[in-house]
Amino acid sequence: MPEPDAAQCAQAAAVLAGLRTRISERGGWIGFDEYLEQVLYAPGLGYYSAGAAKFGAAGDFTTAPELSPLFGACVARAVAPMLAGGADLLELGAGSGALARALLLRLDELGALPERYLILEVSADLRERQHALLRALPPPLYARVQWLDALPPRPLRGVILANEVADALPFQCFAVTAGGFSERGVALGAGGAPAWAERPAAAPLRSELVQLAALLPEPLAVGYRGELCPRLGPWLGSLAAALESGGIVLFDYGLGRRELYHPQRDAGTLHCHYRHRVHDDPYLYPGLQDITAWVDFTRLAAAAADAGLEVAGYCTQAAFLLGAGIDAELARAGDDLERTRRASEARQLLLPGEMGEIFKAMLLTRGAAAASAAFAVQDLRRLL
Ligand SMILES: C[S@@+](CC[C@H](N)C(=O)[O-])C[C@H]1O[C@@H](n2cnc3c(N)ncnc32)[C@H](O)[C@@H]1O
Repeated sequence: MPEPDAAQCAQAAAVLAGLRTRISERGGWIGFDEYLEQVLYAPGLGYYSAGAAKFGAAGDFTTAPELSPLFGACVARAVAPMLAGGADLLELGAGSGALARALLLRLDELGALPERYLILEVSADLRERQHALLRALPPPLYARVQWLDALPPRPLRGVILANEVADALPFQCFAVTAGGFSERGVALGAGGAPAWAERPAAAPLRSELVQLAALLPEPLAVGYRGELCPRLGPWLGSLAAALESGGIVLFDYGLGRRELYHPQRDAGTLHCHYRHRVHDDPYLYPGLQDITAWVDFTRLAAAAADAGLEVAGYCTQAAFLLGAGIDAELARAGDDLERTRRASEARQLLLPGEMGEIFKAMLLTRGAAAASAAFAVQDLRRLL
């Protein structure tokens, strides 16, 4: 692993000091979700709140919009029919602003600009970066961008979009024991370093896990470890409440419940990104690495149905991009150099061993949302 520099070491030390205080205040133990709140979102210090590069070659991981403008161009083609007649587009967790930029430029060319391009971003640092990137857009496009501090109080008509946001919500960790379920939380280990510590699952988590286990075709064996994100449902519910009519489009890595909690996946899906290395130690350099787990798309679909939305599409990212017309976007490349570069990016977006298969796209609609051809190539809803 590359060593952090002095400033990063100081940041990690400050995050660690905050964690120690928090763990002591809580009697020596915190849940993993609370650990994630600290190391990812502590104001000014957490991974997403502090100033490190995070995305792209200079950061820790690359998301689809960072990899290529082809992703935003395809999303533009997919959502354009839902933006007719003065509708709005709301992007959650806009990262560096790369998707907003690509989308606005392509929607403009397609004659389908939203009335407003709203961004809800929890990180003050990323909000600043989004400002800096989007300020360079042509003024008529930048004029449509507005940052929100909370979901709009009046439900909007149009599209709500989130790429790799669901996986960034803090989740809990559990293990199956002979006596039932334990919660894998965090205590201070040797030298005051945070370390895994298990205790019997408290009633709310136990109840969630009992419900989950009852819905699985095979029992979870003693020793099984996994993650659960009870916040997913309320989060999706809040997005549904913010949508009067139109669609919610979600992209993330994940699976339907039966596959995600398959007996063979008995070590869970928690993983960390540090300088383009993927590993499973969430206690390495607190505040300097991303920590995440795969998304339970069945939980999202169930919350959507509870909120009166229709699950109108669910497929792999590759199928979405093909359905949206990535081939037509590739054909727009101006010269050989751009064509070669875009072809290489398209491979990374599409190939099963890269981002094509584990990343999923989901469309949730309310009202007479225009059907999206992007979801017509593949229908995986039976796996939810
Ligand atoms: C993995 S990054 C993805 C960034 C960007 N969408 C992309 O694809 O490059 C997760 C993003 O979600 C933001 N985020 C996390 N929780 C959020 C929430 N509850 N509401 C809005 N944004 C959130 C983070 O600050 C960050 O911008």
